[in-house]
Amino acid sequence: MTLLDGKKTAAEWRADTARRVALLKSIHGRAPKLAAVLVGDDPASATYVRLKAKACEECGIRSRIVHLPADATQQQVRDTVRRLNRNSSVDGIIVQLPLPSHLDYKDLLQLISPGKDVDGFTPVNIGRLALGMQCLPPATPAGIIELLRRNGITTRGRRVAVVGRSNIVGRPMASLLMLKSDMGDATVTVCHSATPQYELEAILRDSDIIISAVGAPGLVKAHMVRPGAIVVDVGTTRVDDPSRKSGYRLAGDVDFDNVAPKCSYITPVPGGVGPMTIASLLHNTLTAFERKHSGRKS
Ligand code: GUN
Repeated sequence: MTLLDGKKTAAEWRADTARRVALLKSIHGRAPKLAAVLVGDDPASATYVRLKAKACEECGIRSRIVHLPADATQQQVRDTVRRLNRNSSVDGIIVQLPLPSHLDYKDLLQLISPGKDVDGFTPVNIGRLALGMQCLPPATPAGIIELLRRNGITTRGRRVAVVGRSNIVGRPMASLLMLKSDMGDATVTVCHSATPQYELEAILRDSDIIISAVGAPGLVKAHMVRPGAIVVDVGTTRVDDPSRKSGYRLAGDVDFDNVAPKCSYITPVPGGVGPMTIASLLHNTLTAFERKHSGRKS
């Protein structure tokens, strides 16, 4: 069993991004810039946004966090996004999810300029992805593809089970894997909350690669995984752990201790997909900047 080390692979990817940022800065006279909109005080969201901003700085990408209060109105958040769209020094915009429940996130996502949508969440980018057109792909699925690619794993002709159909991971993950490309060309099955348990187990047992993105600790158990399978765990659920200073630990969807010995490759949680998501966001910000300066459409 080989651990798919997202921390190490993401560091290599970020180093490539940093080199390219330095080159483009010398050509264009400024570095790319990411703006992150954070609404409210959800501690996990605040942590993620801080990590993203820190990773930007380390790659030479400038960053700005626009922090709005938890009771910000839909109109206030809309105005913020519109201002960032118009600001020519901002190349990438993200609105950190989840938003407070009184806000309509679909309405807000539709406002982000597709060329600045470095999360790849807008209908334009999701549509372009589904059609196999040039797009900014969602950060987590693109990060998973890059994790596999950089570790010499191909998906062509392989049976891949994606567990979860979220707009952020499951759906776009399936779209990427189905593309006619050297890191697509997979035979994809998507399982979700309406998939009967026996069906889920049969599909997983039949799969060369399992990608689980549900947020249900321990969902993927050893008897559901075939020997030699590749398992990618996207779950990051905070579970109480009084032995930790923070009072919690991050749990993946996979029963790691029992599943790992059966796998050829497996991602840890934390240190697997998480760092790749951030590296992917930086890569998309660089891509958005490059496309803007090359005059090509997003
Ligand atoms: N919340 C959980 N994951 C993500 C992500 O990739 N982007 C944003 N904006 N919010 C998230």
